[in-house]
Amino acid sequence: MRVTSPLLLALLVLLLLPPPSQLRKAGQGRRLKVGRRLLRRDRVRGQGRQGRSGDSRHQVPECSEYSDSEDLFVDCQGRKLSSIPTALSWSRAPDHLLLARNRIRALHDGAFSGFEGLRSLDLQQNRISVLEEGVFLGLIHLTTLLLQHNRLGTLSEEALIPMPALRYLRLHDNPWSCRCTLDSLVRTLQVPSNRNLGNHARCAEPVGLRGRKLRQVDPELLCVELEPPSDPPDPQGEDQRDSTYPLQPIPIRGKPDATTSCHTYLFPTPRLDCRSRDLAEVPADIPWDMVHMDLSQNSLRCLKARDFVEARSLRSLNLSDNNLEDMDTASLSGLLHLHELDLSNNNLHFFHYGVLEDLYFLSLLRLGGNPWVCDYSIHYLVYWLRLHPGVTHSGLLCHSPPELRGKSVEDYVHSYNRACSQTEHSQTEYGQTDPELWVTSMELQEEMEPAHLRGPQKYHVTRLN
Ligand SMILES: *[C@@H]1O[C@H](CO)[C@@H](O)[C@H](O)[C@H]1NC(C)=O
Repeated sequence: MRVTSPLLLALLVLLLLPPPSQLRKAGQGRRLKVGRRLLRRDRVRGQGRQGRSGDSRHQVPECSEYSDSEDLFVDCQGRKLSSIPTALSWSRAPDHLLLARNRIRALHDGAFSGFEGLRSLDLQQNRISVLEEGVFLGLIHLTTLLLQHNRLGTLSEEALIPMPALRYLRLHDNPWSCRCTLDSLVRTLQVPSNRNLGNHARCAEPVGLRGRKLRQVDPELLCVELEPPSDPPDPQGEDQRDSTYPLQPIPIRGKPDATTSCHTYLFPTPRLDCRSRDLAEVPADIPWDMVHMDLSQNSLRCLKARDFVEARSLRSLNLSDNNLEDMDTASLSGLLHLHELDLSNNNLHFFHYGVLEDLYFLSLLRLGGNPWVCDYSIHYLVYWLRLHPGVTHSGLLCHSPPELRGKSVEDYVHSYNRACSQTEHSQTEYGQTDPELWVTSMELQEEMEPAHLRGPQKYHVTRLN
C-alpha cells in the first residue's frame, strides 16, 4: 500500500508513539541509571505503580517526597504497603527510603534496583520473613540498613556483601534461628571492626541458645544439635511461647535497654520512640546521637541522677503522661542542648533546687496537669523561669493549698515577695530560725546564675556525680 499524503504519514507516526507520559518516564529512567535487568514482575505490579495508573506525575500517592539539607527523602512509612514502590517514581534518585511500619513480607532479588543512590533504608516494623540473597545488589552507597522488628529467622552473609559502605545494621527483635544457616552472618557480625552491625539481635531458637546475642554466641555451637531429643516436657506455655515468640523481646536483667525497648528512627532526625511501652524506668544506653526522645504514656515514677547523661544530643524530651513524683537534682544533667521538655500530666509537686541548671537552651517547658504546691518549695522554679525569659512555659498553676488552687504559681510567688518585703520585722525573726527561708530574691538570683556565668569558685557544684 502506498501512503498518499504526508498528513496521513504524520498521523500514523503519532499513533505508533507511546503516550507522552510514558516517554517522560523512560527518559527519567535513563537519568536514574536504572539497572532494569533485575526488574521483577512482582515489583512492577507493586503498589506504587498501581496507585499511579493514569497519572503522569512521578509521585507514588502512598508516599511523600521531601528534601532536607540536599538529601531526598522518600517517606512511605505506615502506608500499608506490601511491596517496595517502584524506583522510577521520584523526581530524582532518593538518598533515603523510609518504609517502616508497612506490611512487607518478602524482599526478592532486585527489589531495590533503581534505588542505587540510597544511603539509608528503613524497613523496620514490617513482616519480613523472606530475604533473598540478591535483594541488596547494587546498593553500594548504603550505610544504614534497618531491619529490626521483623520476622527474619535467618539471613546469609551473602545478602550483605553487595553493600561495602554498610556501617549500621539493625537486626534486633527478629526470631533468629541460631542454626547452621546463620553461621556466616554470625561470623560477620563478630568481626571486631563491624561494631555497629547487628547489636542487640538475639537467638530465638534452638532452646539452648535462646536469648543469646548473635554477636556473642559461639559460632561453633550453631551447627551442633543442642536441642534435647524430645520436646521439653510439661508446661503448656512452652509451645505457645515458641509460636508467639517473634514480637516478644527477651527480658534483660536490670534496666530495660533503649534500643530494644523502643523504636529507633534515624532519618531525617534520630528519634527514639518509647511511647506507651509500660516502662517503669528510663531505659539505659540511650544512643548518644538521639535528637528526639518520646517517653510519654509510661509508668515512670522518678527520674534518677544521670538518667539522660549519655543523651547529650537530645533537643526534645517528652515525659508527659507518666506518674513522675520526683526528679533527682542531677536527673537532667548533661542535657545541654535540650530545647523542649514536656513534663505535663505527672504527679510533680515542686522541683528540687538545681534540677534545671544544665538546660541553657531550653525554649519550651510544659508543666500542666501536675499538682504544683504553692509554698516555698516552688520558688526555685519561678526564679529560674524569671532568669530565663526565653523559656515559654505553660500549665504552672497551684494545686494546693486549697485557697490557692487554680491560681498562677507566679502570681503566688509575686504576692509572697511583696508581702514579705513589707513586713521587715517578721523577716528578721524568721530569718533567725531559718535564714534560707527569707533570702531575698536578689540573692537567689545571684545564686542561680548558670554555672558558666557565675564568678569562679563562688561555690562548687558537684552535679555530675
Ligand atoms: C508529648 O506526648 C504527648 C502524648 O504522647 C503529646 O500529646 C504531646 O503533644 C507531646 N509533647 C510535645 C511537646 O510534643
